[in-house]
Amino acid sequence: MGKASQTSSAGLIIRQKEPTNLETPLDQVDSFITPTDLFFIRSHFSTPKLDLASYQLLVDGAVRNPLSLSYEQLRDMPSETRVATLECAGNGRVFLVPQVAGAQWELGAVGNAEWTGVPLGALLERAGLEEDACEIVLEGADRGTPKEEPVPPGPISYARSLPRDKALEREVLIAYQMNGRDLPLDHGYPVRAVVPGYYGMASVKWLLHVQAVREQFRGYWQTSDYAYWDYLDGKPVRRALGVMKLKSEIVRPRFYEKLAPNQVYTVFGAAWAGETEVTGIAVSMDGGQIWAEAEFLDPLQRHAWRRWKFNWLTPKKPGQYTLLARAKDASGNIQPDKHDQHYGSYVISHTLPIEVFVDAATNRSV
Ligand code: MTE
Repeated sequence: MGKASQTSSAGLIIRQKEPTNLETPLDQVDSFITPTDLFFIRSHFSTPKLDLASYQLLVDGAVRNPLSLSYEQLRDMPSETRVATLECAGNGRVFLVPQVAGAQWELGAVGNAEWTGVPLGALLERAGLEEDACEIVLEGADRGTPKEEPVPPGPISYARSLPRDKALEREVLIAYQMNGRDLPLDHGYPVRAVVPGYYGMASVKWLLHVQAVREQFRGYWQTSDYAYWDYLDGKPVRRALGVMKLKSEIVRPRFYEKLAPNQVYTVFGAAWAGETEVTGIAVSMDGGQIWAEAEFLDPLQRHAWRRWKFNWLTPKKPGQYTLLARAKDASGNIQPDKHDQHYGSYVISHTLPIEVFVDAATNRSV
């Protein structure tokens, strides 16, 4: 944290060059919609290059009429456009103490975009989804051998399942556009899933195969990886990560930023939640002793983040100060102040401290 980071030509922070893992410099994003070229990229394998002319999306498994759709056929179907925030389940990992393995994401493995595509439910309806199908498996074109234990015996594809009910929600899109343009290669060109409300891992890129299944899918990306510990009758069991937790982040100031004393500084942040609505943001400028309410910049819109701001009169006394922001949802839940160990190196949804220095030598900003 705070170390100078390498950036890509577009200005994304490089976490890994190959496969491509790039983080959004959130302090530089001022808009409700994250510009496409600043939207984080999280890929497990090399980016596959699919040929549009021969592209086919296969919908099969527990369906009465399996389908194979060309890109043109998909684009000819009625489409919907929705704004959705995608947060990688590993966003904020750098805050975990002690340090854990995996990409050291800071605050910017999250973004808010407008997605256009065909509801997955419309495709399943057309294919005649069988009554006893319980999950829908989405599989991408990318393949490789994960490095983390347990290492599978050979290359595997990236595949995740959705519970039947979620897959049939109108909001789940088989998308071909992001922010009004064809999907960029690294964001899943030509076609990806977008699963609003779920952590990013559910939104399978370079989608080739939609398969309805009659028993729980136990694939690598929801058992070994992207899974957590839950309890069944008191006994620990592994379950697939799904719905995003309520979370707020401070995006300005940055860690260790120097601020002038006795000056109004506008603190900016963003907050989101999976299946509930963010209704309040409490901020503290003294490590959690005194809290005040921040002001929202965006209205409530299901599945989209809400940016917020707070005008802080910086202390007269120079020193190190800890800034915190804590979101509240419509049911009155608030963000926890500690990481829940059941989620391992994922779901870093507790209040994240931003340390800043109030320093008399810092010029007053205009
Ligand atoms: N889909 C495929 N096929 N391969 C991947 O590696 N990564 C997932 C998801 N879909 C991934 C994928 C993860 S972990 C996240 S957070 C999101 O894509 C990131 O989407 P983005 O790169 O468009 O931001």
